[in-house]
Amino acid sequence: MLLGVNIDHIATLRNARGGENPSPIEGAKICMKLNVHGITAHLREDRRHIKDEDIKQLKSLGCRLNMEMAATEEMQKIALSVLPHACCIVPEKRKEITTEGGLDVASSQEKMNKFVKPLVDNGILVSMFIAPDKNQILASHKTGAQYIELHTGAYSCAFGKENEETEFQKLKSAAEFAQNLGLKVNAGHGLDYNNVRRMHEIRGIEELNIGHSIIARAIFTGLDNAVIEMMNLIK
Ligand code: PXP
Repeated sequence: MLLGVNIDHIATLRNARGGENPSPIEGAKICMKLNVHGITAHLREDRRHIKDEDIKQLKSLGCRLNMEMAATEEMQKIALSVLPHACCIVPEKRKEITTEGGLDVASSQEKMNKFVKPLVDNGILVSMFIAPDKNQILASHKTGAQYIELHTGAYSCAFGKENEETEFQKLKSAAEFAQNLGLKVNAGHGLDYNNVRRMHEIRGIEELNIGHSIIARAIFTGLDNAVIEMMNLIK
């Protein structure tokens, strides 16, 4: 499995004081030196962490940039001008602290098909961030996206509790179902240095996108150590 490091929360810390530090771009450079597979950054509608300029700079760094974004016209336009390596389409609510649930592709099939097509046509790898649900997987497949990213939030919350196995099995069978359709499978959200270990039990997950736990640990150990530790757990 490969690691995509989500650097949003370096920007959260920077924006707390409105200056330049800590710089998510410097963070991306450290990750790149360690050969992480990708850098993930979520350009939210309210620009609460990553800003437009960060996306441009990340692109010019030459990293394998995975831009997370909502399915809006504005974001589609930005993605088509920046041309990141990959786009992960996520649901977005203004007041949420983080991406709370998976994208509902099934109930907006036509809109999603139209949203995804120009991205794919321009050579961007597109991933739909969805709950482990067969209807959402089928709908994601219909959009022409090459990937899904399974929302691991419910599993992460259940880890070590009574419903861990139920949530884990949902991820496992969803990954298998998607792969049988020809979709590639990534996963992420809420993964940390403990719950990430079980991702090895799911065959064929290509990449894990992990942010908060790595950036949180980096405060005490340094970003390089936090990234190396996670890479060792998932490789
Ligand atoms: N993947 C997606 C699609 C996300 O929206 C997020 C959160 O921004 C993550 C992965 C990373 O989640 P976390 O910060 O909980 O590791």
